[in-house]
Amino acid sequence: MSGRIPREFIDELLVRVDIVDLIDSHVPLKKTGANFVARCPFHTEKTPSFSVNRKKQFFHCFGCGASGNAISFLMNFSHLDFVEAVEDLAGFAGIAVPRESIEHQPRQQKEDLISLYALMEQVAAFYTEQLRTGNEGKKAAKYLKNRGVSGDCASDFMLGYAPDEWKALATRFDQKLLLEAGLLVSKENGQPYDRFRGRIMFPIRDKRARIIGFGGRVLDNSLPKYLNSPETPLFHKGKEVYGLHELLQKNAKPQRILIVEGYMDVITLAQFGIHYAVAALGTAASQTHLDLLFRFSSELVFCFDGDKAGREAAWRAMEPAFSSLKDGRQIRIMLLPQNHDPDSLVREEGVDGFIGRVQTAETLSEYFFGHFSKELNLSEMEGRAQLVTKAKPYLDKLPESIFKEMMFARLKELSGWANLDVLESTATLVSKQDPKRYRNTARNRPQDSGRLSSARAAIALLVQNPRLAELIEQREIDWNGLDFSGAALFKNILQVIADKNPSNTAVLMECYRDTAEEKFIKALALLDVQVSDDQIETVFCDSLDRLLTQARETVLTRLLNKGKTEGLDAQEKELLRKMLTAQNFGAK
Ligand code: CTP
Ligand code: MN
Repeated sequence: MSGRIPREFIDELLVRVDIVDLIDSHVPLKKTGANFVARCPFHTEKTPSFSVNRKKQFFHCFGCGASGNAISFLMNFSHLDFVEAVEDLAGFAGIAVPRESIEHQPRQQKEDLISLYALMEQVAAFYTEQLRTGNEGKKAAKYLKNRGVSGDCASDFMLGYAPDEWKALATRFDQKLLLEAGLLVSKENGQPYDRFRGRIMFPIRDKRARIIGFGGRVLDNSLPKYLNSPETPLFHKGKEVYGLHELLQKNAKPQRILIVEGYMDVITLAQFGIHYAVAALGTAASQTHLDLLFRFSSELVFCFDGDKAGREAAWRAMEPAFSSLKDGRQIRIMLLPQNHDPDSLVREEGVDGFIGRVQTAETLSEYFFGHFSKELNLSEMEGRAQLVTKAKPYLDKLPESIFKEMMFARLKELSGWANLDVLESTATLVSKQDPKRYRNTARNRPQDSGRLSSARAAIALLVQNPRLAELIEQREIDWNGLDFSGAALFKNILQVIADKNPSNTAVLMECYRDTAEEKFIKALALLDVQVSDDQIETVFCDSLDRLLTQARETVLTRLLNKGKTEGLDAQEKELLRKMLTAQNFGAK
């Protein structure tokens, strides 16, 4: 299934499918006025604040702020990644997804994968059978019992036992497949042999419940304590976490997810009723891991051992954490007491104690700035300068968001340095200019668009009716020298419309997926401009006129002032001359 999906196909799909039908097939909608409403599927509520707009092909929840087009809906509702959502949507429309690449995955390869998944299933069944009834299995069962693992929990996690033999698998299953699945180790001049011998086996399942790999633990103190499947066509350590399938079985939308270090931590926590822990597979949690987990919950809690290695690991997690923190997502850091991991701690303190620690875990911002306050002497200028140098690269990684602005504000406060260039261009339009309004529109029911600035009204109308760009093209506006809040974003949108010719807001939004501008465009798409359909062009032209006049006046005033004080350079003089002429002739 390799190969890129052509952009045009995605655009066409968004035009072909009606988001109202799509959502209605998952969440029954009711028509009220121009919108269709329902109780929001993304948060719990009593009265409906989830609304779907047919014209914009967009959904929005006034309660929790969830919003987007048909693809975003499927990504959120069915926990799909982008490609999966497009495939699902195409299925809904009854059309096949074309692929750009010439090297379509050969049929053979697909069939191989199917056989590999089937093999993993059979091997896992063999291991569980060995644990239950095998001779050696008794030892393993006793080990688990000693560690306090219940039978129910062992079966939830499909725990098994690999007998201490060189060819337990090799004599029972297809050797070529076993090799491909990483279950055999090949020897240069000799027969391949079983990779896992004499170990408790932990099957690793993906979110679709397929077994993709195994971890195995020895029963004693021998080394290596844990052994994992190597990278195989099914198993990519950097992308998967242990326990996700089991977590989703219990709750598809947990309030938070704990990221712990070990297999046994996940299992013990589950046994104590904490069914929302997963483990990165013997590696540090990557941004891919975090993005995967954020699909299921908006809050992640990192759990680290309290020793030096744990504290260092916590700090190393900051990089992927910062990159994944969009608005609405939260990360907490929980450092455990020395010599404890979650497995031992929950057994010692009990479940309430443990949950108490989770709830009071430090927020990312507390942890981040706390780390520096411990490391640097902020009462000295040198320390505060170092704070800026060390902290800023992390903050720069944050996606454009209110949180980012607040983190920069805190850095300014702590360092006493007011001159950080925080957010440029796009951010100014919606946030700096009038932060209260922005928050209102993002979170609550948008109101009183009567007092929208001309720029906001014009840009919002453009986003909501991309065809209005034609009116601008007809007017041959010289954008050079025009200065207004949001100018960069306005020009950016016009460019995208010229290039991609999106037929509605949903398609335009798609052009901005995962870009810095995305959330501003979204906010504009959701702005309630309160203009009836037959008034759109008039209101748009009016706001544009007002905007242009204001923008010209701003520049004119600046030039005239500068002319009086410092004097103008040749370029500025030319600009001034042009503007004055244009004004005299009353041209737009
Ligand atoms: N790990 C690994 N390979 C190793 C050691 C550890 O993959 N050689 C991974 C495993 O996922 C393990 C986790 O790192 O669960 C944490 O390892 P460690 O702290 O050593 O073990 P515990 O999880 O505490 O295991 P146990 O309680 O079974 O001793
Ligand atoms: Mn442990």
